[in-house]
Amino acid sequence: MSTLSPASFSTSERKKVTTLTLRQKKARGEPISMLTAYDYPTALAMDQAGLDAILVGDSLGMVVLGYPNTLPVTMEEMLHHCRAVARGVKSALLIGDMPFMSYQVSVEEALRNAGRFLQQGSMDAVKLEGGRERLDAVRAILGAGIPVMGHLGLTPQSVHQLGGFRPQGRTAVAAKRLLEDALLLEEAGCFGLVLESVPARLAELVTKRVHIPTLGIGAGLGCDGQVLVTHDLLGLFERFTPKFVKKYADFHADMKRAFRAFITDVEAKSFPAEEHTVEMPDEEWEALLRELA
Ligand code: KIV
Repeated sequence: MSTLSPASFSTSERKKVTTLTLRQKKARGEPISMLTAYDYPTALAMDQAGLDAILVGDSLGMVVLGYPNTLPVTMEEMLHHCRAVARGVKSALLIGDMPFMSYQVSVEEALRNAGRFLQQGSMDAVKLEGGRERLDAVRAILGAGIPVMGHLGLTPQSVHQLGGFRPQGRTAVAAKRLLEDALLLEEAGCFGLVLESVPARLAELVTKRVHIPTLGIGAGLGCDGQVLVTHDLLGLFERFTPKFVKKYADFHADMKRAFRAFITDVEAKSFPAEEHTVEMPDEEWEALLRELA
């Protein structure tokens, strides 16, 4: 049983986390926590646990919708899940992940779709993948007052260009390019950066060179904070688990155990028991029987 009192999880006194809060945490050297969420109950638990930021990631496509990668995810799917997450959150910073082809075609489309995340998805900010090639889109979105988080390193929407889900920035040339991209995104006005699957010492170097917070996923301890895909952390996604994931639970196995127990109970007719059953007063039952006689 937990030794923490319910008050330890209370969010009543927690202030709304903003992009400024994250920047202040970096300045104070306080680690930032971020996880992905796609539904109301998970977001509620995360907010009550005190998480700094929640990303409605396009990893939705893989871990919830069962697609082979993130490419098929649409704006409508993202917005549907953003709204569910937002209903559960009072304090955590909410970041909506712009799906493939929602910001690459034109700056106008990028701006319109970013706006939809705030207007129709109740998000506080958006995230998009890529470096120098995305600067125009980033500037346009920021110009509308929408905070943008960058994402460098392993950018899953470029999985085919990258030749698979593989670590990035492992050569001097690639590492220099990634550092340059980080500086460009900071200069453009991004409030933070996700660094995914890059060498720890490169992530640490980037973190020291930029003034905005870095959130690492498979990028070592030198980042300003850590982010994981929640279904990996909970052991809910059994297709594969990246090397950089720490599994805090095995919910897939727990779910299977619960479902098997249900099937067994149904087959044995041991569920529902009396306490799960609706009763009818005897006199009403007898009146019914008289009525039917
Ligand atoms: O979509 C996602 O979940 C992400 C995280 C891996 C950072 O972009």
